[in-house]
Amino acid sequence: MWKDILRDQLEVDEPVFWSCVQEGVQPPRGTPEIPARALPVALVSLLVSHVGLDEAEVAAMSKDEAIARLQRYWTEDTRTQTAKQVPGPPRRRDHNRALSHSGVPSGHPRMTETILVTGGTGVLGREAARRLLGPDREIRVLSRRDAPAGTPYAWRTGDLRTGEGIDAAVAGADVIVHCATTLGSKDVTATNTLIEAARRAGTPHLVYISIVGVDRIPFPYYRAKLAAEEAVIASGLPWTILRATQFHDLLRLLVDVQRRLPVLFRPAGFRFQPVDAGEVAQRLADLSLGEPAGRAPDFGGPEVRDFTDLARTRLRAANRRRPMIPVPVPGASGRGYRAGHHLTPNATGTITFEQYLAARGD
Ligand SMILES: NC(=O)c1ccc[n+]([C@@H]2O[C@H](COP(=O)([O-])OP(=O)(O)OC[C@H]3O[C@@H](n4cnc5c(N)ncnc54)[C@H](OP(=O)(O)O)[C@@H]3O)[C@@H](O)[C@H]2O)c1
Repeated sequence: MWKDILRDQLEVDEPVFWSCVQEGVQPPRGTPEIPARALPVALVSLLVSHVGLDEAEVAAMSKDEAIARLQRYWTEDTRTQTAKQVPGPPRRRDHNRALSHSGVPSGHPRMTETILVTGGTGVLGREAARRLLGPDREIRVLSRRDAPAGTPYAWRTGDLRTGEGIDAAVAGADVIVHCATTLGSKDVTATNTLIEAARRAGTPHLVYISIVGVDRIPFPYYRAKLAAEEAVIASGLPWTILRATQFHDLLRLLVDVQRRLPVLFRPAGFRFQPVDAGEVAQRLADLSLGEPAGRAPDFGGPEVRDFTDLARTRLRAANRRRPMIPVPVPGASGRGYRAGHHLTPNATGTITFEQYLAARGD
């Protein structure tokens, strides 16, 4: 189990992990690159979220004590570890499971599970919220706007940048699926605001959507996503983070925003692995109904394709023609994209860009 946690959450093998934490954070030559900040955060996170220690207790430990504590825990019986895996008081959905498996006579009222979806009006969030609707569940959607007429959701109006309405939105939530984004550096403040409100309200399972490569491409938005991930990991709440590749919608948008231009500018040497937002939403919904999973395996689209190829596909579907002009993207971010750090071998999605465009019919 610990090997799985290290492999899935830290993307590192056990011997590499121990040599890194004991001798500093730089991985030995020839091993996969590990983000410098990942190990200390991961140590604290593993001790809080898996071993079940208080944050204050972990903060008072030396690094050697922390490592020794984790090693001791690792060698314990797996059944004991599983029992201790989720910290804090039992959540309401645990209670639901207990009721449904404990021989309570049929007709006994089940408690309602409350799930808040931030960004539930966005491309991903609205797909996730729709998939979560079901009996014995209250699905809340957080938006800065007022509820549309006839919404099937328990609507909450609030703003993660100002904090307005957030306490009321998270009160009583068992799970928070955090899909809201400011599309910029304010994502860090927004996520911290959400975490603080969630901690005041209890210990909800916090599920966060991130992007493949945020730790390897220093694009400003990715830096903010990485900092938000770190805030989630250090929150002391049970957590799950899913990283996905770019949605088909984004690739279509990159072409469509240029439709009034006589040419189409394309980033030279960029490949993408676009994925269907609905498929990512389904995975996010499944994760939010399960136990906190830490870093879930990355979710990528079925094909890695050159941007030129994807742009041609979009132009063809829209009956347009444009000469394409390559634009070199300078700097470390450009190099990161050209190196494919935003791609994943986990080609989990099945819907191709062509199928997505055909389903939209535009
Ligand atoms: N797009 C991609 O290719 C891609 C790929 C991988 C991961 N992701 C991640 O997936 C998440 C969702 O992306 P998306 O493309 O679905 O986003 P989106 O369509 O731009 O939606 C953004 C959402 O955030 C909400 N929001 C913005 N500012 C807010 C604020 N101050 N307070 C409360 N809510 C606020 C908006 O709600 P209202 O306008 O209703 O208030 C909206 O629902 C993001 O975290 C993104 O990084 C995206």
